[in-house]
Amino acid sequence: MLEKKVISKLRKILGQKAVLTAREDLNAYSYDGTTTWVHMPDVVVLPTTAEQVSQVLKLANDNKVPVTPRGAGTNVSGGSIPIKGGIVLCTTRMNKILDINKTNLTATVEPGVVLQDFNIALARQGLFYPPDPQSFLGCTIGGTIAENAGGPYCVKYGVTKQYVLGLEVVLANGYIMQLGGVTVKNRTGYELMMLFTGSEGTLGVITRITLRLMPLPPANKTMMAIFDDMAVGGQAVSSIMASGVVPAKIEFVDNFVIRRIEEMTPMGLPVEAKALLLIQADGSPAAVEAEAKQIVDILKKSGAKEIKVAKNANEAARYWKMRSAGFAAVFSAAHTVLAEDVAVPRDKLAEFIRKLEDISKKSGFFISYLGHAGDGNLHPSIFTDIRNKKEFDKAQKTMGEIFEAALALGGVLSGEHGIGLEKQRFLKRAMDPVALNLMIKIKGILDPNHILNPGKIWEEEKV
Ligand code: LAC
Ligand code: ZN
Repeated sequence: MLEKKVISKLRKILGQKAVLTAREDLNAYSYDGTTTWVHMPDVVVLPTTAEQVSQVLKLANDNKVPVTPRGAGTNVSGGSIPIKGGIVLCTTRMNKILDINKTNLTATVEPGVVLQDFNIALARQGLFYPPDPQSFLGCTIGGTIAENAGGPYCVKYGVTKQYVLGLEVVLANGYIMQLGGVTVKNRTGYELMMLFTGSEGTLGVITRITLRLMPLPPANKTMMAIFDDMAVGGQAVSSIMASGVVPAKIEFVDNFVIRRIEEMTPMGLPVEAKALLLIQADGSPAAVEAEAKQIVDILKKSGAKEIKVAKNANEAARYWKMRSAGFAAVFSAAHTVLAEDVAVPRDKLAEFIRKLEDISKKSGFFISYLGHAGDGNLHPSIFTDIRNKKEFDKAQKTMGEIFEAALALGGVLSGEHGIGLEKQRFLKRAMDPVALNLMIKIKGILDPNHILNPGKIWEEEKV
């Protein structure tokens, strides 16, 4: 339990209204997008300036109080769960777009800006910020940097870290540090910005971000290909990638998700399809026409049963809405859902899908796998119930087999969600021990009192 004097000092720093201690408020900050983890904080603070963040961290550091930084809490790795209690430092009130520079193709924002709001503001000026985690309607940009988030657009445009040009980060001791700037190129010493990008709130609190932008592509086209066999769909993805065309997005949606979405919001989806590939080409109108034709040809040759090309923006938006609702469909399907984000080399996708089918048959667990096929990044999901210990243990063991299968193919534990709490028991298995040790040492230098998001990424007691 937090000492009363710490709470009253927090009130002095932030004002009464930015310090929450009521049980019903704390409750709202005790969970994230997963169904497995929950822990109450002692207090929630809602700063509006880097100076306030600095003072909060100084106070916490002096008193050795855990601080869990958090945006909208949409992450799906347990990353923003205050697993050791203490302070949740929520950045949602730091939500100003500070600058959009159309000629330098950069923008500077506070961490609490919601990704969708950012893209709406950019689109008004013909600009575009591609990394699109599917929580874009609510997630904050600070959170996407801390998790180095990905999404469908990453096939063509890359992940979040490829857009970060400058960061302001408050360190555990309260120092407000500036990194990078507003140039696309910058070769000044070690790439410290990348250390904080994807650091899952364990190294500092991000308080200002400068991002690289792209011009909004003038045209796009969406295609939906229906497959009888998931692995054949996987092979089609490799064929597209090998043909020299790089679509903006190539997504997988399986029969389970198609049915579930159609049940929740009827939109005329092909509920009999074993799997769908949703593909988008973008660029100049002529390039989009040519690319779409090439993609459709490859899909036909790759064994697609049916190919629909969206006739207009409305039809395309419907398909993409189905995709972005995918995780909601999966997470609402059982009391506990283990939904991960392994990534395998793109040319191993079909092989990985076959392995998932084997694992499903052997374990008896149904596995749903929606995901970013173009990146070899799938979201294998298992439905279980944490209240039934025996079954839950078995589900976790089965997920362990999925991780092993991905690693054996040269893949990784997490393509985009981060390790958080969810995958830490596998970290040792997936990392060079010297690299893991180096990571822990870096944490010790930056946060010697282990106040920042403690208990995350690696299993503390076991290292
Ligand atoms: C998705 C997120 C959850 O792809 O990664 O839907
Ligand atoms: Zn995803």
